[in-house]
Amino acid sequence: MAKYYDEQTIRDIESRVDIVDLIGESVSLTRKGNRYWGLCPFHGEKTASFCVSRDRQMYYCFGCHEGGNVYSFLMKTQGIGFPEALKILAQRAGVKLPETAPAHRNREKEELLRLHQAAAGYYQGLLKSVQGKHARLYLQQRSITEESIEKFGLGYANENWSGLCDWLMKKGFSQSALEKSGLARKSEKNGNIFDLLRNRIIFPIYQYDQAVIAFGGRTMEKDVQPKYLNSPETPIFSKRKNLYGLSWARNSMREQSVVFLVEGYMDCLKMSQAGIQNVVASLGTAFTSEQASLLHRYVERVVLLYDGDDAGQRETLRASGLLQQEGLGVDILTLPNDMDPDEFVTAYGSKGLYDFLKENRQSIISFKLGQWLKNHEGRPALEEKSQLIRGLRTDFQRLPGEMERDYHIELLAMKLGIPENLVRRELKAEKTFSNKPKKTNKTSQKWNNNTENYTLTERVVAAMLLNPVWFEQISSQVGLEIFTNEQDRLLLKMVAKERQQEPAFDLKDLQFRALQDGLENRLARLQMIIETKWTADQILIDDFIARVKKLQERSKWRRLLKEIQQMDEKGTNSDGIKKLLFQINQVFHAERKEEEK
Ligand code: CTP
Ligand code: MN
Repeated sequence: MAKYYDEQTIRDIESRVDIVDLIGESVSLTRKGNRYWGLCPFHGEKTASFCVSRDRQMYYCFGCHEGGNVYSFLMKTQGIGFPEALKILAQRAGVKLPETAPAHRNREKEELLRLHQAAAGYYQGLLKSVQGKHARLYLQQRSITEESIEKFGLGYANENWSGLCDWLMKKGFSQSALEKSGLARKSEKNGNIFDLLRNRIIFPIYQYDQAVIAFGGRTMEKDVQPKYLNSPETPIFSKRKNLYGLSWARNSMREQSVVFLVEGYMDCLKMSQAGIQNVVASLGTAFTSEQASLLHRYVERVVLLYDGDDAGQRETLRASGLLQQEGLGVDILTLPNDMDPDEFVTAYGSKGLYDFLKENRQSIISFKLGQWLKNHEGRPALEEKSQLIRGLRTDFQRLPGEMERDYHIELLAMKLGIPENLVRRELKAEKTFSNKPKKTNKTSQKWNNNTENYTLTERVVAAMLLNPVWFEQISSQVGLEIFTNEQDRLLLKMVAKERQQEPAFDLKDLQFRALQDGLENRLARLQMIIETKWTADQILIDDFIARVKKLQERSKWRRLLKEIQQMDEKGTNSDGIKKLLFQINQVFHAERKEEEK
């Protein structure tokens, strides 16, 4: 790899690309703690031992030991060289490289993305124009602020049958691209193309990285059907795999580790307008397991805030099941009077919403109990109550602790009007007569748990990479040659050399160097140790140094003894023996001094 790449640019690009997002596009990742796990793309496996760390911006497979950063991931998975990986990532990061990028691998998607961006601009322009007056009024009536219009990139499609098509063609997009985008339809009568969305408010649907990938259009009239018309599935858009609002919500989601999940565009927009940042909408269809796993990239908990009507409540139950299967914690909020979040904000304002969100969060168990009570008015039989409790066993198993368990047992006893020990007995009965406990969490089932076994030496090497003081202690007292793994030795020497020239040299710089020298797999493993904080500490390091020294002494003795033996074989030489005795003395002396310390 030539040196002419500017390292600052390389790092800059790397820091703007989220490794979890990048790898998540081709590997289905599940979050566990602050790491993401999936099936390794480099070797066939059935249990996940491929691990991605967002903090370290690295990946590593505990099965096949492939590892590296965003660059090496692209290089290895796509079989391309560094320059090409750099170009792809630069484009993704929105960083301009000196030379222009050559033909891209994925022309079709590229073109569709550009087309959508242009289309969004077209709709946004119309909303601001004279023609958009009626649409602006509609948005005003729904109390959508100018700021929200900007933020969510709202637009307007006028009544013109081919306004968008004409405009895009003028911009140089081909008719075939237009058809592929789903934004143009072909007339069966005359074969002409016309716009999918007309006379509607336009909601661009953004991917997590702010690229527009689809549109939803809402009619402004009461009696027009359908109320919403959305882009069809295209090479860049799958309804099942996307969530509306993710690009604005994801920072806040990461920070808070929790997200509010709503049904509609409008709900998402209004909650955001009310100051709740961590909110996304399932794109109006049944919530999918793909969407659950997408959420799990950012959060550990989901609060379901679906419409208060019956359909909304049914969908709440279904979605909560999928979310739990994904291993996410779930809470539920039920809005009063069949309202949706948008109507609630309109009625009670943002303060009202905040209070509601804070005070009405319900656990799954409490929600299911509520639903059950609604359907079992009068005096339900004891057997029915038992049945309900037995049905809640899996939910009880998922509770994080004893306190939550006690709380819910008390709640059930109280609401069902039965003694607590009856509830306990129904919950426990499973162990005695049901067959095995149910699979509670599909991801933990397929987990490979024997992944992280690090040797003491590996932990020491990791500690040395992390901390210059430890590095200095070891290299000055026992040297670097004692590390028998050649790659470790090379990495450590690299660090020694770089730190000499540039004291501020850090692990990020090392990543690039390691990639140049083919050491990125090993480095990734060491980084994983650093991330788990399993690096050796001062005690282990002292211990390690002492042990290595003892070994070194022993080998010194062995060498001396061998020399005596050899002398014996050759016949005595008094000068030689004197020299030898002197050396032995010195070793003794050194050892005593060492013990005195
Ligand atoms: N939806 C859709 N197509 C429809 C109806 C609904 O795609 N014909 C999706 C939209 O994403 C919509 C969501 O389902 O946002 C929820 O539908 P609904 O509750 O009917 O609409 P609201 O979001 O409440 O929209 P509004 O407040 O504008 O009526
Ligand atoms: Mn609504």
